[in-house]
Amino acid sequence: MTLPDIMLVSRPVKSEAMDYLSPLKIGHQAGQRELKLLSRVADTIEESSDHEQIIANLEEVMQFFNKELYIHFRQEEIALFPALISVIGREGVVSAMLGEHQSIWKAIDLLSEQIDDFKTATGKNKNTIQSIKMLSRHIVGLLGAHIEKEDTMLLPLSEEVLPPGVLQAVGEQIESLEP
Ligand SMILES: [Fe+2]
Ligand SMILES: [Fe+2]
Repeated sequence: MTLPDIMLVSRPVKSEAMDYLSPLKIGHQAGQRELKLLSRVADTIEESSDHEQIIANLEEVMQFFNKELYIHFRQEEIALFPALISVIGREGVVSAMLGEHQSIWKAIDLLSEQIDDFKTATGKNKNTIQSIKMLSRHIVGLLGAHIEKEDTMLLPLSEEVLPPGVLQAVGEQIESLEP
């Protein structure tokens, strides 16, 4: 309706338009936010008597893992990694990142089982609470380090070694895998 709207529409800044991997970078920021919440759960679950709040927080994080993180991993595994493999091979960074994806999912599956337990009338016991605390800390460490590695190493490397046309095709495939 007004000038700001027009400015928004006509704003495709060149460097942003060429940032084909930006959905992955944005996904990493979202991941870090969820890890903060999970970290808070780990810090408070032993003392807190507000089980409803703990469950609500855990469910929010699990929903993020099952939707956004699942799609994010697919974007990397289906779009980015094959392009990288064709240039630098599978050994080294790509196989390391794939291995970390597997470890992260394994830990998320275990956490999911413990959360299901915690939701039951008899599941709010010391063992389950300890398991949720340990697994949450484990996932915060694993996924946090994984994101850090991708932001500082994998994505800059991809932008360096992939030809512009390939990078663009990767970006388009990443977008096609959005929900
Ligand atoms: Fe990844
Ligand atoms: Fe990632």
